Amino acid sequence: MSILVQNDRNFALSNRYFSYVISVEEQDILRQKYYGPPLAKPWEVLPVNPKLHRELSSSFEGIKNLNLNEALLEYPTYGRSDYRLPAFHAQNSDGNSIFSFHYKSYKILKDKPELKGLPSARGGDSETLMICLEDQHWNITLELRYTIYEHYGVLAKSSRFLNKGMHDITIQRLASSSIGLPAKDYELLHFYGTWSREFNEERINMPRGRFVIDSSRGSSSAAHNPFLAVMEIDTSEDHGHVYASTLVYSGNFAISAEKGEFEDVRIIAGINPFDFRWNLKAGQQIDTPEALHVFSENGLTGMSHQWHQFIRDRISPARFKNESRPSFLNTWEACYFDVNAKKILELADQAIVLGVEMLVLDDGWFKGRNDDTSSLGDWEADKKKFPSGIEQLAKDVQAKGLKFGLWFEPEMVNPESDLHRNHPDWILHVPARKSSLGRNQLTLDLSQSVVGDYLFEKISEILSCGFIDYVKWDMNRCMTEIGSNQLPAIQQGEIAHRYILGLYALLDKLTKAFPSILFENCASGGNRFDLGMLSFFPQTWTSDMCDPIGRLEIVNGASYLFPNDVMAAYIGPSPNHQNGRISSIKSRYLAGFFCASRGISLDIPNLEKEEIDKIKEYIAFTNFTSQEMLGGSFYRLLKEPHKFCWQFITSDASKVYLLYFHILAATNMSIPRVRLKGLNSKSQYYLKQEDLLLSGDTLMKLGFELPFLTNAPNIAAREVLKRDFVGMLYEFQIKDTPQ
Ligand code: GLA
Repeated sequence: MSILVQNDRNFALSNRYFSYVISVEEQDILRQKYYGPPLAKPWEVLPVNPKLHRELSSSFEGIKNLNLNEALLEYPTYGRSDYRLPAFHAQNSDGNSIFSFHYKSYKILKDKPELKGLPSARGGDSETLMICLEDQHWNITLELRYTIYEHYGVLAKSSRFLNKGMHDITIQRLASSSIGLPAKDYELLHFYGTWSREFNEERINMPRGRFVIDSSRGSSSAAHNPFLAVMEIDTSEDHGHVYASTLVYSGNFAISAEKGEFEDVRIIAGINPFDFRWNLKAGQQIDTPEALHVFSENGLTGMSHQWHQFIRDRISPARFKNESRPSFLNTWEACYFDVNAKKILELADQAIVLGVEMLVLDDGWFKGRNDDTSSLGDWEADKKKFPSGIEQLAKDVQAKGLKFGLWFEPEMVNPESDLHRNHPDWILHVPARKSSLGRNQLTLDLSQSVVGDYLFEKISEILSCGFIDYVKWDMNRCMTEIGSNQLPAIQQGEIAHRYILGLYALLDKLTKAFPSILFENCASGGNRFDLGMLSFFPQTWTSDMCDPIGRLEIVNGASYLFPNDVMAAYIGPSPNHQNGRISSIKSRYLAGFFCASRGISLDIPNLEKEEIDKIKEYIAFTNFTSQEMLGGSFYRLLKEPHKFCWQFITSDASKVYLLYFHILAATNMSIPRVRLKGLNSKSQYYLKQEDLLLSGDTLMKLGFELPFLTNAPNIAAREVLKRDFVGMLYEFQIKDTPQ
């Protein structure tokens, strides 16, 4: 890893994964020169035709042919001869939006500075280049930060804007990062969805014009995960150049890719400028959230492995990195709101028989909460359901030998609650409008520190009993009528971002106060599954969809960015409560097999004996494999309309799991052949189910057909092919590791 500087004007960030070259050119304008595979000689990067004559282009300050509208600019602004989407847009005290940033100085730090009030990737084995640009007229400094790591193909970028002038500025757009890619045809990959149907993959040709994914819902959202990859045409799992971007941010974001009139592509990532206005007073500064970019020379698997390793090492709280997650029984789809102390203790006994390690009391435990119309905000045990309180219950559950987990939805309040009655001014709302409701609830105004303080106090009161091992932190609505009665009119456009800053401050304080509690991020499943939340909470409830067929696309899509270390799943009821599908316990179990956190949410007394036996077997295997689900390598081997196949190599490379699913049976169905990846070609792998010893070489070159059933090919395979929703798990154990 190195940050090289030439003549104080050219900068090359390189490690073994990529190089990123920037230079200061005419008029001290900062240009991006190169982003791609590592360059041996970065100073040989040639100027990219900076001064071609272009009809209908404007020349910067009248300098002949200096047209910024085809330059790859590091931090483009509006109105200075570039017509594409800028990284920065604001209004100055003259009422216009013309700013001009020019190079001033640079600094190299041996590590990575933190951002103010925002989570960001941890440093270590890293260097940071800070380039300072200045608008002399308005006396503004723009500090662009670039961190490169020794061991990851990740480039971290953010910007700090400092108003040293005499006048306030209204910022409408302040991107975290802008990346320029040379003129070429590209494809885009992104993930769209909705509740219970998150992470659908869409791959399209990069259109001319602008493609944007964004959120104005107050959370990063299930509608578009904050992830966008721009790739070479025909990029596959193993080949092709991929430029992927995400944000360490949980609020309104936008990531856009724009193909300009000269066919180059500009990627911009940051806070969604729509409905954002930040009044930056003279003397104040603001940091953007951090954008992360991965460059992969080896297609999408290469990209995913970079993200996975980085998220595990530099985003997820270090404390839980190697800590296997307990198997759990969650009360939600077993009891919904019908919970009480007697029932929970009975469930705890049943959980023990099944081999489960933790009991999670989901929604319904607090004051008057019998359905979703009331009580959010009143974080005290319901006296009728839990006469001795939560502390006693947690203690009793722990005394039985189980861990105890509890559900909260702290950011919300029902109009029907004491909190709302006492503090109607603590909700996000605007004057003269009746607030919209989501799941009968309103959003608390976390831009007010008093609200965060209250929540910290109420939640701490419960957690400090010392008997709570796990917290599920839920958030079940999107924001509307975003307004706060604590800020003047000119600052109302700041509230969505201030909310997220308030949320981060609260999460930071709580996770520091209770470092041994395992927190799980949830927002009706994946409505806020992002690296901002994962900076505080080591895992996320991936989706409310637990029907195996519904889950497959979700796991597949989420795996592009997220390692299985951060995902949670459970075996839910059949027929499934979300889509009505009937499925076997086995397929429900297997769909969530590659999640670090696994459990069940089932009405145990109403299960058949064989189902109980199966669950015992699966829980035993969950417990047995829980450590293995951390730190491994995940491969998407096959995705066809009715077939999925995934492979997982444990972190010590001693085991390989292969999971195959076919969804609907078809007469005379095709039998796909998959080749395994990432094995040691000289090692022998023992396939337990088939009692076969095969070399890594054979498995990676010849592979095998799915379903693989050599023992009874004519009977068992035929039966499997005739069934719908079949899931099969193959377990390989390495037998020798040659030196
Ligand atoms: C959300 C969560 C569920 C459950 C319910 C409880 O929908 O995603 O897992 O916790 O809230 O109300």
